[in-house]
Amino acid sequence: MADRGERPYTLLSCCMSLDGYLDDSSPRRLILSSAADLDRVDELRAGADAILVGAGTVRADNPRLVVRSRARVERRLREGRSPTPAKVTLTALAKLDPEAAFFTSGETDKLVYCTDDTAAEAHASLGGVATVVTGVNAAGQPLRLEALVEDLHARGVRRLLVEGGATVLSQLLAAGLADELQLAVAPFFVGDSAARRFLDDGAYPWHAGRRARLAGTRALDDVVLLRYAVSDRFDINHWGAADA
Ligand SMILES: NC(=O)c1ccc[n+]([C@@H]2O[C@H](COP(=O)([O-])OP(=O)(O)OC[C@H]3O[C@@H](n4cnc5c(N)ncnc54)[C@H](OP(=O)(O)O)[C@@H]3O)[C@@H](O)[C@H]2O)c1
Repeated sequence: MADRGERPYTLLSCCMSLDGYLDDSSPRRLILSSAADLDRVDELRAGADAILVGAGTVRADNPRLVVRSRARVERRLREGRSPTPAKVTLTALAKLDPEAAFFTSGETDKLVYCTDDTAAEAHASLGGVATVVTGVNAAGQPLRLEALVEDLHARGVRRLLVEGGATVLSQLLAAGLADELQLAVAPFFVGDSAARRFLDDGAYPWHAGRRARLAGTRALDDVVLLRYAVSDRFDINHWGAADA
């Protein structure tokens, strides 16, 4: 692979409650963001080459993951890009509904990274609605996120927006594969330990002895955006107009 070793500039974005939850434990999707925060995410999407979410988020939230603003879609088209970024998900089980909005919405490429053990199942159920990618795990192992992002780079992805969920965000942060974290904080508590927290347990590169750099803060209606540099490659201007 020509681009082996290179990875996209990777921006992680999510919104959590004051007590650090990404969701509650009910089957309904919990809205944490404000309108202004959703607009921030839309601007990030408009600047992205690809949007990545875990299969858990595809199943739990059924997100469309498309650029919503017509003006931003037109800007992308003027730049010779697809109207909305490519969509990427990853799965070990390959139990995804081909009717999910991830696959049915947006005129763009959809990629599903799956483990070799479930490749046949993934091809059978999703091969008609997405490109199924294999070869990024060792036998019997989960996908290697480093290999996945390198493969995305080889496919031309230079700006990768990661919108969750906790499992995917945790792995990328712990592996040092993220460059920027945009963490929005919503002004309420979930108070339910059965719900999904922002991050899993793990050994993160930032701790009491090595603090991440706060690169900006912004109020977005009643939500506060915290922007952190989480790699040496962090560049305040990298994402253009979305910068705080
Ligand atoms: N507030 C926010 O900003 C926000 C954003 C996004 C999501 N969420 C919430 O987050 C929750 C979902 O988070 P989550 O942590 O459960 O799910 P997730 O991170 O979206 O997806 C986890 C799934 O991705 C696949 N996966 C992850 N790493 C893998 C690897 N290395 N190899 C193979 N497959 C891998 C597995 O899929 P399979 O199980 O298919 O094998 C795994 O179960 C939902 O409650 C959602 O509402 C909140």
